[in-house]
Amino acid sequence: MDCNMIGQSPLLIEALERADKAANSAARVLVTGETGTGKEMLARRIHAGSRRAMKPFVALNCASLSPELMESELFGHVKGAFTTALRDHGGLVAQADGGTLFLDEIAEMAPALQAKLLRFIETGEYRRVGEASLRRADVRVIAATHRDLRGGDFRDDLYFRLAVVTIAMPPLRDRAADIPLLAAHFLTAIAAQENRAPLRLDASALAALQRHSWPGNIRELHNTLYSAAVMHDGDTLTAAMLALPALEDSMKLMREAAKPQPLWRVEQAAIDAAIDYCGGNIPHAARLLEVSPSTLYRRPKNRARV
Ligand SMILES: Nc1ncnc2c1ncn2[C@@H]1O[C@H](COP(=O)(O)OP(=O)(O)OP(=O)(O)O)[C@@H](O)[C@H]1O
Ligand SMILES: [Mg+2]
Repeated sequence: MDCNMIGQSPLLIEALERADKAANSAARVLVTGETGTGKEMLARRIHAGSRRAMKPFVALNCASLSPELMESELFGHVKGAFTTALRDHGGLVAQADGGTLFLDEIAEMAPALQAKLLRFIETGEYRRVGEASLRRADVRVIAATHRDLRGGDFRDDLYFRLAVVTIAMPPLRDRAADIPLLAAHFLTAIAAQENRAPLRLDASALAALQRHSWPGNIRELHNTLYSAAVMHDGDTLTAAMLALPALEDSMKLMREAAKPQPLWRVEQAAIDAAIDYCGGNIPHAARLLEVSPSTLYRRPKNRARV
């Protein structure tokens, strides 16, 4: 991933300036923002601009594994620590020694692991799962979240350790001026990648991009352009080709959603939405729905009923 972040809207410039100042320091950084706003890209930029740039940048999505696996992924384990631990495993903290550890979706980290991360941040020391002795690593932590960490079950003391510098990535709808720049940038990249003649947008397409609210932010913009380019042969994309929901369609969907539905259908829709939201990660979806993962693993049966 390159770290050339496109945009010149005031909110983005402010975020980049904060990032570049943070890069020059050793401070821990908490990056906040909706999905697809560029939180990981910003973290990579901070690492690349720091004196740790020649050492590894290691990323871990804290929503991707069960708490037990997460601990051994992060800190490593010794052979025999649990039934499937067939050999010693180093862990990401050791991999990131001298460099940067990016903890994405930090809000999803289990409380017990939050306590261990706090101790590691304070002392630079950690234990592999199943090992008594302490190990040391010199790691700069950058964390990211799309959820508020305050006032929930996230530890306050850990919050204050992580949020020495906070950087808020603005949603795309608050930086409409960047949409044409980002679109041009992505179209150039897509044409190169697909071996196509240069791609352009007509006026209707540009207007449609400016009108859309972009809940998936920059990732959604990229995917919209990519899929339109792949689905159509010409070099000019029109609004119709972008397949963005028209305002009237969204209003209709909202009205339909307000009409009471059978409970099983609402439940199924909530499950589908949560699994989509988590990119297919069932344990994470289950945690957000506050049910056990097995409820979701039993889902094909539900599907059959629908
Ligand atoms: N300013 C930018 N210029 C160019 N590309 C960008 C910019 N911001 C984000 N992107 C691209 O958009 C995509 C999403 O960015 P990224 O993965 O950093 O977002 P995120 O906030 O970490 O999302 P999530 O919350 O879903 O993990 C990536 O492909 C990234 O390269
Ligand atoms: Mg991310």
